[in-house]
Amino acid sequence: MKDPVQPISAGEYTNRRSFLRKGVVVTGAATVGAGLLSRGVPLFGQEDENSGKLTKGDAAILRFLAAAEILETDLWQQYNELGGIQDSEVPGGSGSPVYIAALKVLDGDMDQYIHDNTEDELTHEVFINAYLASKGADTVDLDRFRTLPSSKAAGAQQIGRLTNIMQLTVDTTWWTRYRSRTQNPDFGDTLPQAVPSLAVGQHPAIPRSDADLTPSDHIQAIANTAGFHFATIEQGGTSLYPSLAQRVTNVEVLRVVLSIGPTEAMHFQTWQDKAGNAPALTDPKDPTLVFPNLNAAPFGGEDFQTNLIMPEPTVFLSRQFPTCSIVRPTHTKGAAIGAAKFLTASGLFMGQSKEFFAFLSDLAEDADDARREL
Ligand SMILES: [Fe+2]
Ligand SMILES: [Fe+2]
Repeated sequence: MKDPVQPISAGEYTNRRSFLRKGVVVTGAATVGAGLLSRGVPLFGQEDENSGKLTKGDAAILRFLAAAEILETDLWQQYNELGGIQDSEVPGGSGSPVYIAALKVLDGDMDQYIHDNTEDELTHEVFINAYLASKGADTVDLDRFRTLPSSKAAGAQQIGRLTNIMQLTVDTTWWTRYRSRTQNPDFGDTLPQAVPSLAVGQHPAIPRSDADLTPSDHIQAIANTAGFHFATIEQGGTSLYPSLAQRVTNVEVLRVVLSIGPTEAMHFQTWQDKAGNAPALTDPKDPTLVFPNLNAAPFGGEDFQTNLIMPEPTVFLSRQFPTCSIVRPTHTKGAAIGAAKFLTASGLFMGQSKEFFAFLSDLAEDADDARREL
């Protein structure tokens, strides 16, 4: 059962104030019921969250990005505990040697890359909240939603989680989206899945317990799922930052967004290359899960070829322009709520409370209400 991102009720909206940490600098500027909330949610005289010295829009964009980074950190932390390198930079867990070995079929450095991606997300989260606080703006805290179970496999910490990477439905259309020379979702185009069976059903991307460590093709299917999920997550960040940057007002906030966003693209580029090394196989414990040979019929050709990891040029802004190698999509309208819905549809939040979805949805709507103020 998946909870969609629900439209929020007024009661849920007013409750969420308590989840925002108050900024360090108190400006005393109450921002009550401003017209920015164009969706028309009544505030019932409640104070809006504090934007400090930032515009309301910039603070809302940064708060949504802080939430997204907290969620990213949570899922990457779970990968690192079992499949990465646990050290002083990324502590927690002690590794699952069989899972690590399966991941290394995709690349011998997978544990290092998982560690580094995890640390990057942690620094994004901490930096954005610290920046908000430095401007006297409210920050984001999701700790009360750390309620989901950990993997029972040896190597994982037993702590509450924000995200669930054991029942994923992984969208792999980014594979063909970045290979197409004629299509772009910003024009309404839809692209085919690289691994159609990952896009339906529910699949673990980490061993749920040590029972998932055998037979070898089963743990390899789990590692393959992780390999594609890594890229699915990071291509999302690659689009999210430029999509929201278009509505930032302050030049320094723009610098923050433009400096973090491309690191998501660096992650995506790496993971796309590794996903192409996932061996073709059928999961013996779930024969509906099939990883095809993407270089052979009925796949193959430029839309599937595994070594085409640089973005192919495609249509941008208008089909009248020459094609261009670009990040896609980057439309700004509804970008934050789109990201929240995309993550929710993947099963990443399966088991989360109604309150969680209301809070996430509200942060996303505030970010999407942001407008450039010139
Ligand atoms: Fe990030
Ligand atoms: Fe990321």
